[in-house]
Amino acid sequence: MKNLRMIVNPNDRRSHINKEIYGNFSEHLGRCIYGGFYVGADSTIPNTDGIRNDVVEAFRKIKLPVLRWPGGCFADEYHWQDAVGDVSERKGVVNNWGHVADDNSFGTHEYMKLCELIGCEPYIAGNLGSGTVRELMDWIDYMTFDGRSPMAELRRKNGQDKAWKLKYLGIGNESWGCGGNMTPETYAEHYLRYNTFCRNYSGNELFRIACGPNADDYNWTEVCMKKIKPENMQGLSLHYYTVPTGNWEHKGSSTDFDEKEYYSTICGTMRIDEIITHHSEIMNRFDPRHKTGLIVDEWGCWYDVEPGTNPAFLYQLNTMRDAIVAAVNLDIFNRHSDRVIMANIAQAVNVLQSVILTEGEKMIVTPTYHVFDLYKEHQDGTLIYSHCTNDMISDHKIPAVSQTVSINDSGAMHITLSNCSLTEEYEINCGILDTKINSVSARILTGDAHDHNDFDKPEAVVIKPYDAETVHGGLKIKLPPCSVVAVEVNA
Ligand code: AHR
Repeated sequence: MKNLRMIVNPNDRRSHINKEIYGNFSEHLGRCIYGGFYVGADSTIPNTDGIRNDVVEAFRKIKLPVLRWPGGCFADEYHWQDAVGDVSERKGVVNNWGHVADDNSFGTHEYMKLCELIGCEPYIAGNLGSGTVRELMDWIDYMTFDGRSPMAELRRKNGQDKAWKLKYLGIGNESWGCGGNMTPETYAEHYLRYNTFCRNYSGNELFRIACGPNADDYNWTEVCMKKIKPENMQGLSLHYYTVPTGNWEHKGSSTDFDEKEYYSTICGTMRIDEIITHHSEIMNRFDPRHKTGLIVDEWGCWYDVEPGTNPAFLYQLNTMRDAIVAAVNLDIFNRHSDRVIMANIAQAVNVLQSVILTEGEKMIVTPTYHVFDLYKEHQDGTLIYSHCTNDMISDHKIPAVSQTVSINDSGAMHITLSNCSLTEEYEINCGILDTKINSVSARILTGDAHDHNDFDKPEAVVIKPYDAETVHGGLKIKLPPCSVVAVEVNA
């Protein structure tokens, strides 16, 4: 076991950790919406207006703050009018993710109901790629206008009298790729035109999010900041996926990987720190007052699909490796919370680095879910200064320990720590300045990097109670290999 020293200074308050950093992304892709969130009111699976009760309850437990929908690439081929009104009369569509039929039984009303049940903010990604300005303008009117207009009347006819509140609005998705293959210059012009007609009705205030860069495309950020300007967008999105091998043709398996591939996954995911830093530097030049936040709209591990499943459905399992990836990413977002104001993992259910998996009436939560559970106390907390001496995992040049420390409004301190080493245990001697500790409680998630929950073993990986020792001036916390620990300290 190696000893590491950590220092926490509660007097050094850094930035607000927006709860939206703990958001999720959901798309009409594979079994995310149909089967994942939505089974229809006639299903034998317990549901509320067709929405699975078990999934809602699980998301309530981790205090899901925001859910992005309906895509992804699907957003730029989505025509909302086809998915409102009597379900039996709705026009279906062919979903390009696998060319499967979508009967549009899950549309705006069902999505708003889902957000209401979970208690999270809706975040709608508008169609700039194949839609029209009028279509998006009408959708906003339909959802948010409380007076009399053809769209508001249509909403009432379809069963929703009161206008909904819609805060987060994306204008286009991956417009550099599946959303239209545009240059940043072309996109910026389209954005400004669409944005003009995205109106604030009836006291609703839209928080407009422009399509941002793919990973390290710094030119995209530069052009958007220059041409769109901070006063015309409150958010700029960033997409970054972790591919273990770095090769999109052979990404690697979600469960069958060796030590080298494990560390290349962790190393690949840590790259997002440098990527956020460089995008932030560009944003700082154009927006020193931080009017525009960086929104990590899509992040997480992307593996080869589970053998025997539809390749277009992006279904993969989720191990303790994913838990470490989640912890490392959330720590990076927390550290950048002066600029990163929202992040949505891809995706919520049954797609990519899922938080939840379903199979018929069965539902399981993944190691990634447990990390969101361990980290939920950071939501809307204040990031405070912490530093750990750390240990570099020699062959891979990555730091073993990652951490976040925050304080909430009631003065409770939350420390989360992860150890990505597969072999080394660490004892962290954590000094906390100017704090007389009254009580401490801790929880841990740990296991072999390959451990995962499955439908026949739903509790192979679970959070367990843990001990953190109070010592003079702070705490002693042991971190076993491949573990994530959460500690609550009350002074
Ligand atoms: O999350 C899957 C896809 O990844 C999304 O549809 C797209 O935005 C991204 O390329």
